[in-house]
Amino acid sequence: MRLQALLGIDTPVIQASMVWLNSAELAAAVSNAGGLGVLGPNAGRQDAGGGVTGTVDAFREEIRKTKSLTDKPFAVNYLLPIEGVDISFKYAEPLLEAILQEKISIVITSGKDISKGEAYIRRLKDAGIIVIHREISPTVENSIMAEKAGVDAIIITGHEAGGHLSDHRISTLVLLPQVTDAVNIPVIAAGGIYNQKTAKAAMAMGAAGVYVGTRFIATFESPASLNTKQAIVNVLSEELVEINTPAGDIRVIATESILAGRGESEVGVIKKGMLDGDHQHGVITVSGAAGGIAKISSAREVVCELSEAFS
Ligand SMILES: Cc1cc2nc3c(=O)[nH]c(=O)nc-3n(C[C@H](O)[C@H](O)[C@H](O)COP(=O)(O)O)c2cc1C
Repeated sequence: MRLQALLGIDTPVIQASMVWLNSAELAAAVSNAGGLGVLGPNAGRQDAGGGVTGTVDAFREEIRKTKSLTDKPFAVNYLLPIEGVDISFKYAEPLLEAILQEKISIVITSGKDISKGEAYIRRLKDAGIIVIHREISPTVENSIMAEKAGVDAIIITGHEAGGHLSDHRISTLVLLPQVTDAVNIPVIAAGGIYNQKTAKAAMAMGAAGVYVGTRFIATFESPASLNTKQAIVNVLSEELVEINTPAGDIRVIATESILAGRGESEVGVIKKGMLDGDHQHGVITVSGAAGGIAKISSAREVVCELSEAFS
């Protein structure tokens, strides 16, 4: 109950931030069902045009739209700038300003080095914002560092997750209980959680809540194309392959073009594959959980099904 009380939600089911695959409609549906909806970078967008100003304006618009669709709490994802990635610093300040001005109450920070992100976390905390931190490559050590940096909760993502993979090939099953033993703040489990059984397993390992990505892509409210949702429903876990992109490894549904070695270079291909539904030139990145997803559901159904694990 600690996490529910902290976030002001009924059930600790959190819809994960997913670059192009989030929107006001999805976030509001999750929050209205009693979970926590999240707006990720590029939420609700159909293209990446407009540079920093275009991105920040669209982000503000999506926040306002979400507020018009729900009076329940929701969160936004803030990507902490990454050392050596100049573009991440270009976006960091304007996005932080937007978060403060739009009076967001819960922020999920994600990053690759908590020690470099502490100043941003401090500014969010000083503004009275609840901060949940997700280290992209979580370990026991950086989880303890996040707790010391003053975040309110952390998300632990195992290597089986969708999106950019952890540098460490450690599963949720192995890492989660080590972290829940090591820190005193609520720990939220991510990676491969898609139904009641997996949510219950996370709870048994000490998780205070679950952070779910792939399952929410296969919902009616998700902005993913219909053929992407159908591909998730149809895929078997063993059909997923890992490919390398400039921003890191991702796990994708194998298509002919990927198996032939094409389509490996751009993270932009996620939009092409998942939002535009062009599976010849783009990719569909999901977790192994996709193999267990049997139908397209409403976001409310997903929240209700998973929340049974916590009742
Ligand atoms: C298509 C896709 C895009 C993602 N984009 C982001 C992102 O922009 N920022 C982020 O912190 N995590 C991102 N993730 C990771 C999710 O937030 C989450 O950790 C992951 O989906 C959990 O594993 P699951 O898919 O097995 O539920 C993405 C995941 C997917 C599947």
